[in-house]
Amino acid sequence: MSVSRRVIGSEQVVRASRGGRRFIEVPPGGIVTVQARETAARMDIALRDGPLDRPQTPAADGAAALYRVLYRRSPKWMPPKPPAGRSPTRFRRLAVIGAGGVGGNLAQLAAARDMSGEIVIVDVVPGLADSMALDLNHSAGATRSKCLVSGSVDASAAADADVVVVTAGRARSPGMSRADLLAVNRRTIRALGEKIRAASPNAVVIVVSNPLDEMTAEMLWSTEFPRERVMGMAGTLDSARFRTELARAARVGIDEVEAMVVGSHGEEMTPLISLARIRGLPADRFLDGGEIAGCVERTVSAGARVVALRRTASASIAPAHAILELLEHMRGARVGPVPATVRLAGEYGIEGVPLGVPCLLGPNGLIEIAELSIDASERAKLLNAAEAVRARIGN
Ligand code: 2OP
Repeated sequence: MSVSRRVIGSEQVVRASRGGRRFIEVPPGGIVTVQARETAARMDIALRDGPLDRPQTPAADGAAALYRVLYRRSPKWMPPKPPAGRSPTRFRRLAVIGAGGVGGNLAQLAAARDMSGEIVIVDVVPGLADSMALDLNHSAGATRSKCLVSGSVDASAAADADVVVVTAGRARSPGMSRADLLAVNRRTIRALGEKIRAASPNAVVIVVSNPLDEMTAEMLWSTEFPRERVMGMAGTLDSARFRTELARAARVGIDEVEAMVVGSHGEEMTPLISLARIRGLPADRFLDGGEIAGCVERTVSAGARVVALRRTASASIAPAHAILELLEHMRGARVGPVPATVRLAGEYGIEGVPLGVPCLLGPNGLIEIAELSIDASERAKLLNAAEAVRARIGN
């Protein structure tokens, strides 16, 4: 196989100096001639191994479009200005607890994006997290990610993490509802929460285990962290599924659809139909009531349909991408409101229950909940979801 390598000669160094540049980036595998090195030393031009980190602007993606729609609909809510031209921050240590399908895919995506200095994977199955860490470290030779991955069987190894993503716990089997996992996963989350509190007292915890809203409540209790630092991932997944359904039904590109799902991650989830936009217009300009209802139904049943097909596991790829979306918002690579499950303190008329709502996130977790003027029927659904979750957590 022939490999073409970039050769940097002294003419290039001279050109850089004339252009007022102080350094030249040497691409991976690039060759610098002896003469070029001498010229660079003489002209005080640094030769830096690439690829170099460059300032990136936060993605101006669908989130930004939705941000504009939401803002127009709710003039009372003043969104903070999105950071312009600021590079996303990089996490120092990201812990992923549970090396199943969701945890494994997330670790892979996060490592390839080089969004954290370190990733610590934890799984109680001996060798699973370690083997995944080894495999991911090998892949860095191809991806050039600088992220270092390690594995452990003990959650205490994920010490001093700035973000802990909890995917541990049992997944559904065909025919089970998420709520059927309540008793068994509650014990797991409680034990993990106590370990996280001791090992990473300043971390932001993202809960992914089901039943999501109830496990987020359990994590809040067991860590005793403030609500800003405990959130559940569900709304980004449900919203992704809703957007997919709308795009397919309207036969438009996925990048032409914006929509958000809030509420609980269960039967009571609340797709915000009134805010859904296709090509910037209300969804009902493209789809009739029956078609929209079909999209809603397929969104609510999406997770169960994957379980029914896979039989031994639940969805893992879309959930991993949906967690990544929260992480990207936290580090400033994406801007605008994103649905996350947080404990409400009077917002939307709801108190003391974790529920999916549009949030602004930063490196320390929740910055602000975006209170939108949603439809009366959507508000009623949200209240209903809150009461259902309250009954299940016994609060
Ligand atoms: C889902 O909806 C696993 O709850 C997750 O697929």
